[in-house]
Amino acid sequence: MFDHLNRLAPEAILRLMSQYRADCSSDKVDLGIGVYRDSHGHTPVLDCVRRAEHRMLAAQSTKTYVGALGREEFNRHVEVLVLGAEHGARSAQRVRTIQTPGGCGALRLGAELIKAATPAAKVLVGNPTWGNHVPLLGAAGLTLVHYAYYDPTTHELLFDQILERLEQAASGDVVLLHACCHNPSGVDPSPVQWRALIDCLLRRRLVPFVDLAYQGLGDDLLADVASTRLIFQELPEALLAVSFSKNLGLYRERAGALIVLSESVDHAEAVQSHTMQIARGIYSMPPDHGAAIVATILSDTELAQAWTQELIPMRERIVAMRAMLAEHLRDATGTQMFDFVRTQRGMFSLLGIAVDVVDRLREQRHIYMTPDGRINLAGINPDNVAYVSKSIARELRAR
Ligand SMILES: Cc1ncc(COP(=O)(O)O)c(C=O)c1O
Repeated sequence: MFDHLNRLAPEAILRLMSQYRADCSSDKVDLGIGVYRDSHGHTPVLDCVRRAEHRMLAAQSTKTYVGALGREEFNRHVEVLVLGAEHGARSAQRVRTIQTPGGCGALRLGAELIKAATPAAKVLVGNPTWGNHVPLLGAAGLTLVHYAYYDPTTHELLFDQILERLEQAASGDVVLLHACCHNPSGVDPSPVQWRALIDCLLRRRLVPFVDLAYQGLGDDLLADVASTRLIFQELPEALLAVSFSKNLGLYRERAGALIVLSESVDHAEAVQSHTMQIARGIYSMPPDHGAAIVATILSDTELAQAWTQELIPMRERIVAMRAMLAEHLRDATGTQMFDFVRTQRGMFSLLGIAVDVVDRLREQRHIYMTPDGRINLAGINPDNVAYVSKSIARELRAR
């Protein structure tokens, strides 16, 4: 059976993870893996999560199946968190949510739903985008086409080009968008640009597929979903993949949701029947523990407040590390070429350095980043920032 299978090269991030683990140097710095880290380089369990888990363990009376939709209270609370309790599309019952195994599960399920509904639709995917978007959406058999998103020379959004590309898309095509904290570039549209984008989607009858993986890690829990709320308010149809991996530190628990907006209640019912059936055919039912934590936190005013408070230092740390790295890189390179890192948003930025420099940083200086030069700002701390900056400057000079 397996005679014709050739061994595949490991995927870039997974390879980086194992190379980093195998590296015995005490200088090693991980800027590659997309997880939040505190100033000691640790990815902590949030206090609100621990407290929720204690309560859950004491109260849990069964481990019977949860059903293909997952926990109903989780789905309801996620809708309220993301869209707001008073959102018109929710009151009109045009929104349906299904709990998924993480944001990846939501992206794949959404892709399968698009494939079932409009197999000929193209999905426009930004260049660059998160490395796993293409495999996740492509695996459903959808045709993916790229649109230019970010200019690596100016480190800015290619807004006019995005609009031009959307003007050429066919009605019914899908546009993948990052709700906030764009991964890998750290560059999001401004509120005015979002408005123009949404007008264009509406006029061209395009369907946005929004990926929300960093709510609360950009500006705050509310501001980070402003564009998503507007999309769900203005457009007849939309898909939204939600992840709690980063903002609640639930990575391995696989807590996520797919929220779908339809034009009518009838369509919403049909969508729900399909997402349930697709889920049954892939993984049957989502894992419960992570979603139970999210539901416990969001249903309790005090725990929800504690979470909001815990997000503040996480966010502030990322902003502070951006400023600190930009400052050190100024000193080390004697230029302002990395100043853009200071003002970008979220956990990632693209340094814009060549792949051979990335390789040398890893092989000779034990500094790990993805081959495209993406760094995780949460991997920077006061103890490693000088070493990282000097190493980057030296390797650039050595070219
Ligand atoms: C942009 C983006 N979307 C979605 C995800 C999915 O995360 P998970 O499946 O771990 O919830 C990630 C994780 O890195 C991400 O960066």
